[in-house]
Amino acid sequence: MLRSLFSFVMAFCFTSVTFADQFSNWLERQNQVSIEKLFNNIGPEGTHPGTVIASPSREEPDYWFHWVRDAALVMQVVLDRGSNVPANRGETLYRFVEKTELNQNLFSPVGLGEPKYYVDGRPYDGPWGRPQNDGPALRALTLTRWARQLMEQGRSEYVRQRLYSGSIPALGVIKKDLEYVAHNWRVPSFDLWEEVKGQHFYTKMVQRQALLEGADLAQILGDGGAAQYYRNQAHGLDQVILHHYNTNRPYIVENIDRVEGLWYKDSGLDTATILAFLHTQGSHHSKSLDDNMLLSTIFHLKESFASIYRINRNYEAQGVGVSFGRYPEDVYFGGNPWFLTTLAIAEHHLKLAKVIQEKGQISISPKNYTFYQALMGQKAKVPSRVITSSDSEFRMILSELHAEAIKYFKRVRKHTNSSGNLWEQFDRDSGYMLSARDLTWSYAAFITSYQALRDLHND
Ligand code: NOJ
Ligand code: NOJ
Repeated sequence: MLRSLFSFVMAFCFTSVTFADQFSNWLERQNQVSIEKLFNNIGPEGTHPGTVIASPSREEPDYWFHWVRDAALVMQVVLDRGSNVPANRGETLYRFVEKTELNQNLFSPVGLGEPKYYVDGRPYDGPWGRPQNDGPALRALTLTRWARQLMEQGRSEYVRQRLYSGSIPALGVIKKDLEYVAHNWRVPSFDLWEEVKGQHFYTKMVQRQALLEGADLAQILGDGGAAQYYRNQAHGLDQVILHHYNTNRPYIVENIDRVEGLWYKDSGLDTATILAFLHTQGSHHSKSLDDNMLLSTIFHLKESFASIYRINRNYEAQGVGVSFGRYPEDVYFGGNPWFLTTLAIAEHHLKLAKVIQEKGQISISPKNYTFYQALMGQKAKVPSRVITSSDSEFRMILSELHAEAIKYFKRVRKHTNSSGNLWEQFDRDSGYMLSARDLTWSYAAFITSYQALRDLHND
């Protein structure tokens, strides 16, 4: 009797250990696969070196193009991985700069606001939602960070020649992008989803970050006048960013002052607002991931997606997180959850845990209360109080954030296949992957959120 009880307990322990192992093995493997597949989409055969194809899909949808936004986000991942890139891929950033020079020097009716380029470097000339002004800002941001690294490695000459030269007219890929951003941020543009022309939170946030970090670089390179000008423009952006907070809704509204494009995004809820924070992290200029309105926005997005997608029914019982899409009213390919938006929530939670750890306290207020209450379930107490690190609730919140993040990874695992392919979307009813296969940005999103998990574990 005792013996069988013993073996029962052992078997139980063994299975739970194996489950945990299997999951962490999956995470590790999915990360490796993501890196491999991300690089497969950089400069594939038939494209100009340095081209980042959005996806190898050539029809329904045709993503065989170099999108400025996607490429900048992907290059940020390449940069973050430093020397850990696969063999012979270390030259990628140099090729990307050459490709950017080619793009910037070819005429386009909207200048650097052109969102996508053919794989040979020519600006796309079919009808499209343009300009899209987040692209040049994201590109400037990635390259500014690389420039700082190059200077530390004694490669200032390359930086001055190719990336940033203070002369007029603007020379250097970063300087050109910064000048474009600094002079055009007030102009209505199409949003990152390429659908609404107006004013966008995401676009403004990345423009602000590019200008502030760009100003620091300009200062170091002796271009003080430009640095001041960029800072002034960033200050202007700070003012208008507030308009997205003050809408009488309990969340950040992505699109305002619409002039053209989709008109049915009534809720104003959009995961782009979360991406706006994530894509601007990494410097002392960044806005904190514990922003009350950001937390409230996540709460409302989650409520909304939980109720509209069939695959989210009983998500709690399934032990997986809610699938997040772009925004509730989305109809693109039927309006589905996306990998990159679902992974963004995991990444946010992990990085929020880090912020909280560093601050050593959590301030619960009427604005962020819903977020923490949902996280803690019945365990939450009254709003408006400060939880300090000696409080037992403090540890509990940290471990809940981690546990939630793990559930979003489990959600991703549920919808990918055994080879680890990540497409753009997964079907809201059946859960099968759809739209663009091997979306480069999906892989980038997996890599950055998994990195956030490792960073938290390494504490
Ligand atoms: C293609 C865009 O990339 C996508 O974001 C959009 O939803 C569809 N066109 C429909 O406008
Ligand atoms: C559609 C997405 O809405 C847009 O953000 C992206 O740049 C393109 N697809 C290419 O991936």
